[in-house]
Amino acid sequence: MTNRQLTADLAVVGTGVAGLSAALRAAELGLRVVALTKNTIEDGNTRWAQGGVAVVLPGSGDSVDAHVADTLAASAGLGDEAAARSILAAGPAAVSALRARGAVFDGSAGELEHTREGGHRAFRVIHAGGDATGAEIERALAGAAQSGQLPVLEGQSVTDVLRDDTGRVAGLALLGEALGTGVLRSRAVLLATGGLGQLYTVSTNADAATGDGLALALRAGAMTADLEFVQFHPTVLHLGAGSRGRQPLVTEAIRGEGAVLLDITGAPVMTGVHPLGALAPRDVVAAAITRRMAQTGSDHVLLDTTHLGSAELRRRFPTVHAVCVALGLDPAREPIPVAPAAHYQCGGVVTDTSGRSTVPGLYAAGEVARTGLHGANRLASNSLLEGLVVGTRAAEAVAADLAVSPRPGPPLPPCPLRLVGDRDAIQRSMSAHAGIGRDATGLAAAATVVRAAPWRRLRTPRDAEDAGLTLAAAAVLAAASARTETRGCHLRTDHPRTAARWQRSITVVLDDVGTPVVAQPMLVGGVA
Ligand code: SIN
Repeated sequence: MTNRQLTADLAVVGTGVAGLSAALRAAELGLRVVALTKNTIEDGNTRWAQGGVAVVLPGSGDSVDAHVADTLAASAGLGDEAAARSILAAGPAAVSALRARGAVFDGSAGELEHTREGGHRAFRVIHAGGDATGAEIERALAGAAQSGQLPVLEGQSVTDVLRDDTGRVAGLALLGEALGTGVLRSRAVLLATGGLGQLYTVSTNADAATGDGLALALRAGAMTADLEFVQFHPTVLHLGAGSRGRQPLVTEAIRGEGAVLLDITGAPVMTGVHPLGALAPRDVVAAAITRRMAQTGSDHVLLDTTHLGSAELRRRFPTVHAVCVALGLDPAREPIPVAPAAHYQCGGVVTDTSGRSTVPGLYAAGEVARTGLHGANRLASNSLLEGLVVGTRAAEAVAADLAVSPRPGPPLPPCPLRLVGDRDAIQRSMSAHAGIGRDATGLAAAATVVRAAPWRRLRTPRDAEDAGLTLAAAAVLAAASARTETRGCHLRTDHPRTAARWQRSITVVLDDVGTPVVAQPMLVGGVA
């Protein structure tokens, strides 16, 4: 297959839960679909998700209203109620469809086990393989893709979403192993590339999470929003000073089963901080841990899981248990050292709840998208559900839109030069200045590091990643500098209060020279 022969109705970039849900549904609808990934099909972020899928189970006594209320409470005033209701109400059907594709959740067929995580007032998080939920979902979807003979191009980087002279999406510019350098003509493109955890020195994210989709969307002229809200997971295994890259998660579900957060003196961290204690929303817990680490002069706190005992830890949390044991730590006998690390991009490409962006022919779903579900802080385990629901709907939206849209003209060539920053320098400055606790001086210092990036041609997939990371960092910094208040995951030490005038989403677009700028007007609610 050469790139000249390859054309599609829909090109899906990314093969995590959102991308594969979309690609499989598109194939069912008879669209000519191709999925692309810069790695291998299973090598994205989805497989590392531990906790589970938040969903209201029939007969559980829970309700969609309660799930929506918890989601909005966690969102710190920026969640879009209509979007949340639309996505969360579709949860049970989405989970049934996933089970029909072969995913196996813990519990019996008639009654799935369900647990709690931070910010949830009900036991509504279903899980698979104990704490290996993402891996099971990825296994089932990748298996379905394989048995359905879905075309998946592995090792294929995308450097641009191409548009025709009317601004409509016309294809993708490629750089990679599968097709080399060239163009894939496609009437629609769905970005499902995951997040941007690799903007920071330590993250729970796969190495692939370099902000590619956000950068592709910005360069294609799409509106983005809520980028300042980078969620830090409170309990990531602390591997010692100087450790870099993807760090093992210690799922919040362990706190749902009673684990306690202590500082290094043994004092509880969450007492008196929030009515939900250790199960407060994630932004609250991560900020409380960060404060306590500063007070005690330590780079970590402790998570005491000893009450669970060895057998229960092995049964319910096999991934966490195995990682601890491999490091010589027995979580049944001693507390686990943990610290916050970058985990989730709450904002992203502005879309409706069917994945439509502001650019004709461009769609986004999953972590790269901003539907309004998460607002300023995502509720735990809402993201796998969002990926399933919006990914599937995006395929349906593409089918409906293509039926009434003109065919795009020839794709216009993109500008070959990019700002390609030094990854290590960007990660260090983002971690120092754009993590939990930011101020104007630090954000400006980080922006100076990003602006020092030279213009270059992209020659390798690594260059493409570094260019995406550079643009994504600049966009996050633009939004974080503009929001002069503290809200959700955005904690400004120079503006420590939440301000009513900021109860709206900051939108970011590229200006004429390709610099991310805060756009007017800002959003109140979604685009739908
Ligand atoms: C976790 O297992 O704690 C992570 C779940 C999530 O990020 O939603």
